[in-house]
Amino acid sequence: MMNTEGMLRDNALADKVIVVTGGGTGLGKSMTTYLLKLGAKVVIASRKQEVLNQTAKELEEATGGTVLPVVCDVRKYEEIETVLKKTLNKFGQVDGLINNAAGNFISPTERLSHRAFDIVVDIVLRGTYNYTLAFGKHWIDQQHPGTMLNIVTTYAWTGSGYVVPSACGKAGVLALTRSLAVEWGKYKIRTNAIAPGPFPTEGAWSRLLPGDLVEKFDPAKNNPLKRVGNHQELANLAAYLMSDYSSFVNGEVITIDGGEWLQGAGEFNHLDEIPSAMWDQLEKARKKG
Ligand code: HXC
Ligand code: NAP
Repeated sequence: MMNTEGMLRDNALADKVIVVTGGGTGLGKSMTTYLLKLGAKVVIASRKQEVLNQTAKELEEATGGTVLPVVCDVRKYEEIETVLKKTLNKFGQVDGLINNAAGNFISPTERLSHRAFDIVVDIVLRGTYNYTLAFGKHWIDQQHPGTMLNIVTTYAWTGSGYVVPSACGKAGVLALTRSLAVEWGKYKIRTNAIAPGPFPTEGAWSRLLPGDLVEKFDPAKNNPLKRVGNHQELANLAAYLMSDYSSFVNGEVITIDGGEWLQGAGEFNHLDEIPSAMWDQLEKARKKG
């Protein structure tokens, strides 16, 4: 058994129709691949038609599944209504939504224009609540159970400098997750979140570690396990949360970061840097004292 293998049993998602925002690239593409392997039909939606078409073709060939690519900017509610309509026309139902699309880049906050701040918060928070409202209303109206999964980050609760618009947006998404888990539980709509640590993707790395930053601040060195995440590890968790195996999990945010944020939080964790020989000396000094 390997962490790079699929975890759920065959056909665990047969008969499920799932919409993945930002499903054409990065982690959205990896989650989509695994959902397809488990028998789900998947709608991928983002701004770039060509990217979506290419991914849909590639994943249909690789998995034998069915992918519907639909262009949609998460900031435009009417376009989300079109995604919903096209999904229902093609598949007759929708069972799940993964709010994965995001925008982000690093910058000292004082260098940001208000437009730059808006653009990130609008993609992350407005985009997520737009989709959530459209799909939630549909499920409630149709009395159809729904499963929502929001992709956040660990700085949704710690905050983080240099990605402040993203931190504000993700914090809002976390609040949305926990609020609706309770309010919409009565409609059989489950709402959960995943907070990934570093999982290499072109989209994230180019915007968060531009130039030679990746050598200076290698994310693999920043957690107790001393590695980055493997996409299948995240896809396994996402598939579980979208499946009926997790039907009593609601309002949870699951961190998958190798212990990264706790390493930064624990007051004495930096003592890891003290070598054994020095611990011997310290122990002697303490005993003498
Ligand atoms: C300062 C910047 C900037 C930068 C853009 N802006 N990039 N300001 N530093 N690096 C400013 C622009 O000057 C402009 O403001 C405003 O932001 C809008 O920029 P546009 O380029 O016109 O926007 P757009 O083409 O719509 O692109 C949106 C984007 C882009 C968010 C800037 O990066 C994008 O499309 N991202 C989508 C994918 C993505 O970001 N993936 C990574 C997710 S990673 P002015 O004032 O000049 O008009 C992630 C990981 C989190 O979320 C956790 C990691 C551990
Ligand atoms: P990515 O490949 O850049 O994914 C972002 C996706 O969002 C793209 O497919 C993009 O497609 C879509 N998108 C951006 N703006 C959009 C808009 N206005 N409307 C619709 N779609 C839009 O980056 P990723 O690393 O896979 O990130 C995926 C998710 O994981 C994000 O929520 C991110 O915050 C989260 N995350 C990633 C990491 C990591 O280490 N990679 C860590 C923590 C959290 P278009 O450009 O075609 O629109």
